[in-house]
Amino acid sequence: MKNLFTVKKKSGKKISMITCYDYTSARLLEKAGVDTVLVGDSLGMTMLGYDSTLEVTMEDMIHHARAVKRGLKNVLTVVDLPFMSYQNDVAAAVNNAGRLVKEGKANIVKLEGGEEFADVIKAITRASIPVCAHIGLTPQSINAFGGFVVQGRDIESARKIVRDALAVEKAGAVMVVLEGIPTRLAEIITKLLKIPTIGIGAGNVTDGQVLVMQDLLGLNIDFKPKFVKHFMNGADIFVTAFKDYISEIETLSFPGAEHEFALNDEIYQTLKKEYL
Ligand code: KIV
Repeated sequence: MKNLFTVKKKSGKKISMITCYDYTSARLLEKAGVDTVLVGDSLGMTMLGYDSTLEVTMEDMIHHARAVKRGLKNVLTVVDLPFMSYQNDVAAAVNNAGRLVKEGKANIVKLEGGEEFADVIKAITRASIPVCAHIGLTPQSINAFGGFVVQGRDIESARKIVRDALAVEKAGAVMVVLEGIPTRLAEIITKLLKIPTIGIGAGNVTDGQVLVMQDLLGLNIDFKPKFVKHFMNGADIFVTAFKDYISEIETLSFPGAEHEFALNDEIYQTLKKEYL
């Protein structure tokens, strides 16, 4: 699995990653031929309606990861370690990574952080659990960043992100997500690293791309970040279908004869006499 993406990087073929949180979508993603699926802690917003990823628990991640894995036969699955499941204790981080593998069937676990988390990445890797690092604009740190602000625009913060990238690779990460950084910085990091870089809001220079499924499908009616492209207008398509359903119920067009189960005439007449 590790080799598949390193080979893709070497050959210049781009890696596709989409977030997924449920069985039905997982089946469709596999059918579409996506390279890898991310059970992201973004499920806190997309599935559970939280304001941020900070409230997401290990139980939430395992619950959704299991559902996704039931829908996938052969797609490499990355699962997020949620906020405070790895930040303050290396042993707890390894235990929680182990739970994502044992209970959530993760192939790779993802954690947010750079050089400060090198020891955690090393320890999880030592336990034979591959790690995907996530650097740049890391949503679990929004309180420290003061919101969703593009990172790495001044020389010091750009250097810090390069140091983070080199440190996570050295610590054993098998890939790294670069989020919310300038394209030119992503280009330098992608050239510097041997492991694949997966970008979101980092331009088309990374080795692969990831998008939140609800963003890609245009289902999020609340807001659209600059880096998101809607590949369909899902919200309109869904709302139109719901409206058609409501209207067809009201006009008795649905269910139609083709959706009904028949009852023998004699039984029908008997029942009518007995009960009506
Ligand atoms: O949780 C998530 O969906 C993510 C992606 C945005 C990379 O971490």
